[in-house]
Amino acid sequence: MGKIIRIEDIAASTGESVTLQGWLYNKTDKGRLQFLLIRDGTGIVQAVVFQKDVPEAVFEAARTVTQESSLIVSGTVRADPRAPGIPGGYEIGVSDLQIVQRAEDYPITPKEHGIEFLMDNRHLWLRSSRQWAILRVRATVIRAIRDWLDSHGFINLDTPILTPAAAEGTTTLFEVNYFEDKAYLAQTGQLYNEANIMAFGRVYCFGPTFRAERSKTRRHLTEFWMVEPEIAYCDLDQLMEIEEQFVSSIVQTCLRERAAELKLLERDVTALAGVTPPFPRISYDEAVALLQRLRDQTEDPEQKTLLAFEWGNDFGSPHETALTQQFTKPVFVYGYPTAVKAFYMEPWPGRPEVCKSVDLLAPEGYGEIIGGSERIADPDLLIQRIREHNLPLEPYKWYIDLRRYGSVPHSGFGLGVERTVAWICGIEHIRETIPFPRMLYRLYP
Ligand code: 4AD
Ligand code: MG
Repeated sequence: MGKIIRIEDIAASTGESVTLQGWLYNKTDKGRLQFLLIRDGTGIVQAVVFQKDVPEAVFEAARTVTQESSLIVSGTVRADPRAPGIPGGYEIGVSDLQIVQRAEDYPITPKEHGIEFLMDNRHLWLRSSRQWAILRVRATVIRAIRDWLDSHGFINLDTPILTPAAAEGTTTLFEVNYFEDKAYLAQTGQLYNEANIMAFGRVYCFGPTFRAERSKTRRHLTEFWMVEPEIAYCDLDQLMEIEEQFVSSIVQTCLRERAAELKLLERDVTALAGVTPPFPRISYDEAVALLQRLRDQTEDPEQKTLLAFEWGNDFGSPHETALTQQFTKPVFVYGYPTAVKAFYMEPWPGRPEVCKSVDLLAPEGYGEIIGGSERIADPDLLIQRIREHNLPLEPYKWYIDLRRYGSVPHSGFGLGVERTVAWICGIEHIRETIPFPRMLYRLYP
């Protein structure tokens, strides 16, 4: 038995005798030759069992081993450019094979399965190479987020998940029983971030976020992960500069470190390579005019109806898709109508019907991945806005205090991890970007 290695490190063991601990991914029976595709969590490699090279019992085990059985394989690593696998290019000439547990008939076979079946079997589906690749990209996105923020003066401070009040209105809150009181699962950590920046300057929270939205779209989860950076002494323009640096760094890190996974997903990486600062910036007004032009240009009556839009509304998914298709990079849309955004957004100077908000829309039709804004710094204006939104003042007492003791212009944003991963991976639906998705009709497994 050779040294135990991981498949991702296989190149370093060329010519050596090694041992792999893994599972049977797939198998091809060629009579006296058995080709086993073995995965170990870090990659997939082909192991070749030749009848004349192994004891009869070992050959019999190889011939009859079932899909997803756990096994330990020993043999010699050979470089072979034709060998399939991830990273590929190497195979093992097997000398010994031990089955740890022989799997029962595995429900997920190479044939096509419906999405509901796969979601019911999510605990097993995770082993499929496509799911594996997406979740490896996710892990890299999360690390790239932390690396960039940690190296740009941001300090990570966790914000509470059990919260007493609604930050952005109560309609999308999950209520929980908090002893004799009501509490809500956090839908943002932003308000607490605003307290934290007055002590630390630049902060971020990064955690699970809950939205009781009855939306059944490919972009909505009820539980998702959001990173929220917040910056003291920062206006809307400075915020956009931070966002474009941040997002570019995440994308470039994935291109560098997850090339094999993106290839497996058949992602067109040329579209991602150009994601570098600066990003185009258009105002909400310009976006509305652009939608109108696209609507005038199209011959397709269905598209004309879909693109219908009136100033003052929030963009729907068809609008975001049409807008982002006009750009090769993510695009900032700033200055939304005050009425469609949260109460805490700073009004546009001289134009109170518009606020200093900015959304970042990902290209190729992926839509909003970031929402952010400059925040109201003046206590009286903040109180007025809370009242206009029919929110009670009492729970916001501490939040208003922040404007009484050394208030400063400040801004921040929230980036949704799953939407970002869906875009980078080039996949249709965000349910595949989190190990166990929570959606309107999905709480199992
Ligand atoms: O635009 P949102 O609602 O912004 C906020 O919550 C602000 N308080 C953030 C801040 O300024 N600190 O959400 C931010 C991002 C969206 O752009 C999107 O990427 C993601 O969170 N998001 C969702 N992702 C998956 N499923 C949902 N239901 C989501 N809702 C928002
Ligand atoms: Mg938003």
